[in-house]
Amino acid sequence: MLKGKVAIVTGGSRGIGEAIAYELASKGADIAVIYSGNVSAAEQVCRKCQEVYGVKAQAYLCNVADFEIVKQTVAQIKADFGTVHILVNNAGITRDGLVARMKEADFDAVLDTNLKGAFHMIRHCTGLFLRNREGCIINISSVSGLIGNAGQCNYAASKAGLIGLTKSVARELAPKGIRCNAIAPGFIATDMTQDQSDNPLLAQVPLGRMGTPREVAEAVAFLASADYITGEVLRVDGGIAM
Ligand code: NAI
Repeated sequence: MLKGKVAIVTGGSRGIGEAIAYELASKGADIAVIYSGNVSAAEQVCRKCQEVYGVKAQAYLCNVADFEIVKQTVAQIKADFGTVHILVNNAGITRDGLVARMKEADFDAVLDTNLKGAFHMIRHCTGLFLRNREGCIINISSVSGLIGNAGQCNYAASKAGLIGLTKSVARELAPKGIRCNAIAPGFIATDMTQDQSDNPLLAQVPLGRMGTPREVAEAVAFLASADYITGEVLRVDGGIAM
């Protein structure tokens, strides 16, 4: 279904990003994994993409918060893969804290990675999409960006910002055959949420459980080939933000 396509997955070395890499690889896409620290984890994900799904896969060390490094990395991916068709902006961090006590550095770090990081990736991939007259961008937002979350003003602002970015880019690039959508996951069981299992908000999930990375990844694969959907925000949240 995605054979012949090249997909970049940021933060693809673990958690939701890792599941997205496998899901897109299982549909036949070649995968460029962007990671920020753990080279052996990133290389292991690539090996599984190659060995289990028979696609090309390569890992790239890249801080998405750095405009120039992203530019160089996208150029390297173009040199290695020829082009890019699908961009999944999944890299994200949290620096939770109450607004009255939040450090400026914690606000900035979260905005720089979660929101500017996505902008940097889109900015540097769009030239390739325009040349191909096709492209698909999927931004991993969060239900925090839809309904807010106490203790996460920085994170929620970054994820709400991603939704504005998604809709503006969708409108701007639709005439060029380029789609841009967002996914808003709820509680998904990953390293990021390992200390959330006793979060009282979990009791408010209508489907009564945390989601899995694979369930988010399946939504990414759906949007990657949903040719008439753009500017959408798809919740994968067990119903918590309905
Ligand atoms: P995770 O912490 O397990 O993985 C995040 C990945 O992003 C890691 O591979 C990390 O190395 C990478 N990363 C962080 N900063 C980076 C940078 N500056 N440059 C490049 N890569 C960087 O998190 P998880 O849970 O897999 O989350 C993935 C995405 O899904 C994030 O954007 C997160 O905000 C979002 N999300 C997660 C939810 C959850 O419940 N786990 C809920 C809603 C959204």
